[in-house]
Amino acid sequence: MCGIVGFTGKSAAAPFLLEGLHKLEYRGYDSAGISVIENSVINTEKTVGRIKALSEQTNAGALTPGFVGVGHTRWATHGAPSIENAHPHLSGKRKFAVVHNGIIENYAILREQLIGEGVKFVSETDTEVVPHLLEKYYDGDLIKAVSKVVNLLEGSFALGIICTDFPDTLVAARRFSPLIIGISENANIIASDVTAIASVTKDIIYLDDNEIAVLTPEKAEVFDLSGNKISKDLSKITWDVSAAEKGGFEYFMMKEIHEQPHAVKQTLSGRIKNGEVVFEDFSLTTEKLKSINRIVIIACGSAYHAGIVGKYVIEEMVRIPCEVDLASESRYRKPIINDKTLTIVISQSGETADTLAALREAKRLGSHTVSVVNVVGSSIAKASDDCIYTWAGPEIAVATTKGYSTQIAVMYLFAAWLAKHLGTKDDKYIADFLSEVKALPQKIEEILSLEGLLKEMAKRSVNDESLFFIGRNIDYAVSLEASLKLKEISYIHSEAYAAGELKHGTISLIEENRTVFALTCYKALADKMLSNIKEVSARGAYVITCANEGDTDFEKESNQMIYVPRVHELLVASTEVIPFQIYAYYVAYHKGCDIDKPRNLAKSVTVE
Ligand code: G6P
Repeated sequence: MCGIVGFTGKSAAAPFLLEGLHKLEYRGYDSAGISVIENSVINTEKTVGRIKALSEQTNAGALTPGFVGVGHTRWATHGAPSIENAHPHLSGKRKFAVVHNGIIENYAILREQLIGEGVKFVSETDTEVVPHLLEKYYDGDLIKAVSKVVNLLEGSFALGIICTDFPDTLVAARRFSPLIIGISENANIIASDVTAIASVTKDIIYLDDNEIAVLTPEKAEVFDLSGNKISKDLSKITWDVSAAEKGGFEYFMMKEIHEQPHAVKQTLSGRIKNGEVVFEDFSLTTEKLKSINRIVIIACGSAYHAGIVGKYVIEEMVRIPCEVDLASESRYRKPIINDKTLTIVISQSGETADTLAALREAKRLGSHTVSVVNVVGSSIAKASDDCIYTWAGPEIAVATTKGYSTQIAVMYLFAAWLAKHLGTKDDKYIADFLSEVKALPQKIEEILSLEGLLKEMAKRSVNDESLFFIGRNIDYAVSLEASLKLKEISYIHSEAYAAGELKHGTISLIEENRTVFALTCYKALADKMLSNIKEVSARGAYVITCANEGDTDFEKESNQMIYVPRVHELLVASTEVIPFQIYAYYVAYHKGCDIDKPRNLAKSVTVE
């Protein structure tokens, strides 16, 4: 996790570093720091807290003048959040300052060796070995020292390095952690992702694994680990800078909830043609598809929940067994994957360490891999055989909303694409299904008008200590996501249960006034849900039912109703999830929680 930035330019470095870190706070925010070179001295400021505190401490950067610097916002892995453990980390003679995102897996051995040689460590971090190693191997040739050190490191890292002997130079290196270079007339910069760069420039270079970048205000050069110069292509950031700003909303999460109709429209855009799905540049052929006997979907968090929606839709439309696996489980279980398995990995950030590792393992085992990713050029997008971008635009709030909605939209497209290529549904079915998919942005828009009602309703849950979400089939898949949304931002314990399983245990927790959300939009099982609602309401539960407009049968058994517009039965996740995102938001809001940055969480989890 963590976010890093670096700057070398003709103007002061600190204001960019602070602004860039602020944009990267979603990656971790338990401590932060910057180092800037002035008159061949590295000045460092750190805080245990947010970037706002660091900005105040440095008087918006005025107290750390200088034209080259690095900065870091941390999500603690090795050592608690503290000033000592906050980055940047310095070498003993204060010649090098280093910021790092990722985990150096062999740091303990390296640290022991350095201590044996008399080096004094001030932090518990894995990162601190890097500046000490740089000082050890530096003989006046900076690139040589960085190459030597990078070759010694195992694990994942994106590094930003400055050295007092080169007061206009910023060095960066990466392996398995994201790092982007921004090129502009007056400054060259680095950052963990484009949100921190977009306000300065739209011209970027994606640094690849095992590459080292050497930047001065005038030049950006990239080398391999043997010191050979590599020629790199310049790419353009295509989205608007304002997309990464709040635009009048109090929190990014609500802004992103409201962006969902547009985001889903973007996901579908250009991909439905003449009643069928078209994926540009897809290498997966019909012939290859015909040899597939199993589909495995791998992901983490909400992306895993999107995968469960995908399973229900794909199995129904394509009749191929489809399994959904947590990436952190899949990667260490010797997964049964081979060349007859189609592997789909889902990841908003495209950088989740477990998902990336599981993808690589699936590829190694001979599977064709398709990724569903939001961030263009991310590691997962690049490592997969085919990538379907969700085109949701930057998502900043830690709790995903439009990321999830666009992932399930891709699941619908992919299911329809598979059904067409495998002939499991006829052309009319597919065309009708896709025209309903196309109508989803409008239906989501309609649900957003429930915001006022849900804001009021949410007051009830401020005092809930524990609550339940129940559903069957796709309604169950949505229950998992609705429950996660609520607990991650409001800190209220919540459980999602397959409604038919309730009586095998959890019903013992239902007592007077316990809030139970019943999700009933999956029409084929609505009758079964009615029975389950009766079971909990008979035991005193306060039942809030989410149903399709017109399905009034549930009213008698429910304390409150939330109605959403009716859609194709396989698409209910797209409508049903929206009220629960809004409800979770307002429970957290009424409780005064930090909605965009819930405690202990981070958006992009680049550590396992
Ligand atoms: C974190 C985020 C979740 C996200 C999960 C997977 O836990 O807080 O919202 O679902 O990572 O992230 P990915 O980027 O792979 O979708």
